[in-house]
Amino acid sequence: MSEREEQLARLARGWDEAVTGYESYYVPRFAPWVRDGVNAVIAAAIPEGPVLVPCCGTFPELDALVAQFPDREIVGIDLSAGMVRRARERAAGHPRVRVVEGDASTLDPRWTGRCAAVVSIFGLQQLPEPDVALRSWTAALRPGGRLSVVFWPSNTESEGPFALLSEVLRARIPAGDQSWEHRLVDSMTAAGAATARDELRTHPMTHPDAATCFHAHTRSGPLRALADARGSLFIDQLRNDFLHRAPAGPWTHHPRARHLVADVADGVRPETL
Ligand SMILES: C[S@@+](CC[C@H](N)C(=O)[O-])C[C@H]1O[C@@H](n2cnc3c(N)ncnc32)[C@H](O)[C@@H]1O
Repeated sequence: MSEREEQLARLARGWDEAVTGYESYYVPRFAPWVRDGVNAVIAAAIPEGPVLVPCCGTFPELDALVAQFPDREIVGIDLSAGMVRRARERAAGHPRVRVVEGDASTLDPRWTGRCAAVVSIFGLQQLPEPDVALRSWTAALRPGGRLSVVFWPSNTESEGPFALLSEVLRARIPAGDQSWEHRLVDSMTAAGAATARDELRTHPMTHPDAATCFHAHTRSGPLRALADARGSLFIDQLRNDFLHRAPAGPWTHHPRARHLVADVADGVRPETL
């Protein structure tokens, strides 16, 4: 197994273990951003063709998509077998909806130039090369098609649990290379789409208290794979640092996600694909 394959396998296992907690803790809290991402596609006059949802997780995007596009082929893709299982439960009863297990970093070439829309929420920042993936997702669009991607940038807030978590983490693990964030618009352009929106979307989020927030993040959220890899001593120390600096009681914050929307003009498919 290559290093990249091992990394993906670890990430997939982490999400497998997180599914139930993710669905109950994060899906309601992330719902406003899911609405932003899906609404950008619903609001557009997209052409005929499938709608792809890379990194669909438990597939919270699905209900609004099916309500708007009841006769479309809608395809979720996720790396985690556990997430795929839960997404298939949500998709049951919708014969035109499928969920595929696999790495969404590079889409199968059979999608190239075929899709009416690609919608992805909170998956891009987890991919090994997000800018390369975004180019592949854009290339899946047909003329008139729309891409709508919401993701967490490196800087989501100046204060709040996400900021504090990243501070206590950075004291132990250096930040990864975030230069890809500056290459995303070029990726979409290179694949033949024009940027329609590039903005930060802020919504309030409330946690019952800091300990619950830490528990959710490390057991049912994005830090689960790291927690598995580093073990309980590491997580105990991280929790101590976090709780030591966190406020008491319910904690409301206003994190910013970045929302990118891009369109391929009608009748146009670039030579660059
Ligand atoms: C934070 S969850 C978001 C799920 C859903 N879109 C939502 O808004 O709730 C991120 C998802 O991305 C998936 N993921 C991470 N890397 C992936 C990859 N390379 N290919 C496909 N899915 C991936 C994870 O398995 C996880 O289900």
